Amino acid sequence: MDYITLNDGNRIPSIGFGVFLIPNNGPTYEAVSKALKAGYRHIDSAAAYFNEEDVGRAVRDSGIPREEIFVTSKLWLQDHGYEGAKHGIERSLRKLDIGFIDLYLVHQPYGDVAGAWRAMEEAKAEGKIRSIGVSNMSPVLWNKFIPDFKTKPAVNQVEFNPLFQQKEIRKLMAETGTKLEAWYPLGHGNAGLLCHPVITGLAKKYGKNAGQIILRFEVQEGMITLPKSTNPERIRTNLEIFDFALTEEEMNRMRSLDTGKGSHNPDAPGVEERLRGAFVIED
Ligand code: A2P
Repeated sequence: MDYITLNDGNRIPSIGFGVFLIPNNGPTYEAVSKALKAGYRHIDSAAAYFNEEDVGRAVRDSGIPREEIFVTSKLWLQDHGYEGAKHGIERSLRKLDIGFIDLYLVHQPYGDVAGAWRAMEEAKAEGKIRSIGVSNMSPVLWNKFIPDFKTKPAVNQVEFNPLFQQKEIRKLMAETGTKLEAWYPLGHGNAGLLCHPVITGLAKKYGKNAGQIILRFEVQEGMITLPKSTNPERIRTNLEIFDFALTEEEMNRMRSLDTGKGSHNPDAPGVEERLRGAFVIED
């Protein structure tokens, strides 16, 4: 496993196991337990995934020292604002029950983000959270919020894959040393991506599958990538990307696949309202 050093000095494993849409009370426990056995040391959850309890239980039962596992969770919109975020952070800490949270993110950047961020900075100072970051920030949202933040985000977790390389936001993030975390890093099963001749050609050359080539590209590009799989074989093999490297010419060929288009536009009208109504987190 490779590690990346964040702008606050903390280290994060460059591949994380995502648990979005995996139910609590069993399935997430099983999935995280298997991922940890397969060698993952980074689990990406969120209050709005409704499975923090199972993530925590799997981490506690794993027999692996707590310090060796990196756990991310995220604050949901209903908890924005200073007081709300204090409450949301305590709820996540209680549900996870693993002592501290390695990385906590503003899940969706709308409403009183500045107040939420102050509460997150305080929780970091108190050692309840080790690193803090944001998610789904477009250049417009970044420019709206980040200049006023005292602590610059350690990460911005956004949609990223070779067809959607987020070149604009990456320029802004470079100024604050903020690392990109990729969600939907495999294009969420987009056949046009997994069957792209550039990628299948490289897969043949290196004796890897298309997914491994994509994940290698992302890690080699300096990102943290969060592939999702329910297939035990792919869960395992998606970690096997540290025994080869793409050449600079191959990296450039991968970079040229960018279309600038993804599935989620955080600036689109109605997105904030739709997300606000999507989930209610209960204590
Ligand atoms: P499966 O669960 O059957 O492995 P993303 O992480 O971009 O959301 O993509 C997830 C999708 O990609 C899932 O449909 C998953 O299917 C599939 N997938 C995961 N790993 C690989 C891989 N190495 N090669 C091809 N498809 C993969």
